[in-house]
Amino acid sequence: MKTILVTGGAGFIGSNFVLGEKSRETRVVNLDLLTYAGNLLNLQERDGDPDHVFAKGDIGDRPFVRKLLDDNRPDAVINFAAESHVDRSIDSPESFIQTNIVGTYHLLEETLAFWKNLPADRKDRFRFLHVSTDEVYGSLGPAGPAFTENTPYAPNSPYAASKAASDHLVRAYHHTFGLPAIITNCSNNYGPRQFPEKLTPLMILNAIEGKPLPVYGDGLNIRDWLYVEDHCEALRMVLEKGKPGETYNIGGCCEKTNIEIVNTLCSLLDEMAPESPYSPHSSLVTFVNDRLGHDRRYAVDCSRIGRELGWRAKETFESGLRKTIRWYLDNTQWVQSVRSGAYRDWIARQYGVADANALQTAPDCSANKLQSASRSQGL
Ligand code: NAD
Ligand code: TYD
Repeated sequence: MKTILVTGGAGFIGSNFVLGEKSRETRVVNLDLLTYAGNLLNLQERDGDPDHVFAKGDIGDRPFVRKLLDDNRPDAVINFAAESHVDRSIDSPESFIQTNIVGTYHLLEETLAFWKNLPADRKDRFRFLHVSTDEVYGSLGPAGPAFTENTPYAPNSPYAASKAASDHLVRAYHHTFGLPAIITNCSNNYGPRQFPEKLTPLMILNAIEGKPLPVYGDGLNIRDWLYVEDHCEALRMVLEKGKPGETYNIGGCCEKTNIEIVNTLCSLLDEMAPESPYSPHSSLVTFVNDRLGHDRRYAVDCSRIGRELGWRAKETFESGLRKTIRWYLDNTQWVQSVRSGAYRDWIARQYGVADANALQTAPDCSANKLQSASRSQGL
């Protein structure tokens, strides 16, 4: 049986990956600091499973990581652990520098020391897979070709810059020390268990509750969207068949403007929650102040992983969104648990309201950002 050390496995993508490993006869050691974004409820399906070992800790805690590696002797490390939200990186970049750059450096150092002492056959098979983002490539114009693995890095947000720095470190540890590392750069994921500060879960949950749907700027920024399980499947293929030292782009070939996403979510909700008093949900759309330095467009050319490893996304945009909405409608306990005081504080700060509950459709809403709805289109 193979053992994988998964970092950040209580977060959105990491937990979906860990749950998917259940049927694959893999032993998972799950190292997660349980920041606001990590949630043990995400892993409930593996409660009592002897092939899932959870270890609360920091990827930057060298003695802790060393002991985990020595005790469990993994065949691979897959690094999901990160601070991952662009808006939070604009509000307060420090934890991004600490975890994404310094933390990754410490994890690399400990993995390298462990890897060097492996017997030759295990050393050859060992992999360090670093999960990164398309945001490292910067922003595209309307007609610019999609990012390829050779597009130069040009990160624009503190989040993207911290991920770019970590990618460079991973690359250097392969080039300089021979660590069999691989990097993947994926586009925006959506699906079950995503913390509701990101676009799709925020919009779904606000719409269910009849709260405003805050669209930044003109709503015409473009992202490429991929269902989370398709991303996890791509990562499995990269672990099994990817070449050390290489980078693989992963994406859904699904470019959408933000307003298209929000409107599609709204019409699916109209259909899937017919008893909702808030239909049509699109009437809740509220244009708010733009994000600082907001990247206009991301698009990913993922032909390489298709050609070389045979990966292809299975979900369509609509089937993936339906599954996602269904999950949030069915998992009210999860939703309540993540909307803790810390979450409410964030929503209040980010959207300029004194209390998250005040993010209601009241006509006299005095929120800074929501007031900018006066310059919105279609309201
Ligand atoms: P997430 O924020 O949901 O989860 C991150 C997890 O890492 C959390 O469980 C958190 O507790 C843990 N963590 C944070 N700091 C840690 C530390 N110092 N030590 C150990 N654990 C720590 O993020 P996600 O959306 O699941 O993203 C996972 C990875 O995938 C990230 O590296 C992100 O950059 C990358 N990525 C995300 C997307 C996306 O759309 N969400 C797209 C492409 C790439
Ligand atoms: P987000 O989910 O934060 O992912 P990223 O910034 O990594 O792409 O945002 C996706 C897009 O949605 C991005 O263009 C910003 C926009 N957005 C809104 O318009 N309103 C919101 O409340 C949020 C959170 C994001």
